[in-house]
Amino acid sequence: MHRKGTTPATLDLFADDSPQPLACEQIGPRSFVLRGFALPFIDRVLPSLASVLTRAPFRNMVTPGGRTMSVALSSCGQFGWTTDRSGYQYTRIDPQTGQPWPGMPEVFMELARSAADAAGFAGFVPDACLINRYIPGAKMSLHQDKDEQGYEWPVVSISLGIPAMFLFGGQLRSDATQRVPLFHGDVVVWGGEDRLRFHGVMPVKQAEHPQLGEQRINFTFRRAR
Ligand code: SIN
Ligand code: FE2
Repeated sequence: MHRKGTTPATLDLFADDSPQPLACEQIGPRSFVLRGFALPFIDRVLPSLASVLTRAPFRNMVTPGGRTMSVALSSCGQFGWTTDRSGYQYTRIDPQTGQPWPGMPEVFMELARSAADAAGFAGFVPDACLINRYIPGAKMSLHQDKDEQGYEWPVVSISLGIPAMFLFGGQLRSDATQRVPLFHGDVVVWGGEDRLRFHGVMPVKQAEHPQLGEQRINFTFRRAR
């Protein structure tokens, strides 16, 4: 109801054109889904991503068990994550190019830091950003992110492109998993007591995204050393 001259200022907060409050879902004691958090960064993220990928192209790595991953990987930052028959590790050099991994673009750093901050992890300075590309059918089995030197900093995960169903489990592989649908621009942050929780991604369904086509790109920012 609108009465001339007495409209309370608070009503303006709910006007149609006002920015919506950030939707934040808590999925663990120190784990959060920040819906759409990355959207304001995307116009700057995509050109930076393209530049990183020209220097460190996507590749399908082989696990120590000899399986070729359905997800294609790249990295940027001081350290990149690799896997081959000898194991998982962080390296300063991209084994495919023999060059250092591309530096972490400023906008990537800004996005990771502000998402960590919003989830209660102020002061996060990632030194590694893994870049995963899922085409329809690609998946990531349940695993822990545990190749980092310490676990005092969170993992900050950004989803771009077509949707995926993220599985968020517990401290044991056999623990029940929550299913968390992730869309373009969503960010998941898990740290503290949740840092080593098992997680994975169900096979990505066929879909097309207006900017990214038939793919889902995921960044995971970590502090490797
Ligand atoms: C990962 O666990 O490294 C990737 C998670 C995701 O793609 O959402
Ligand atoms: Fe992971």
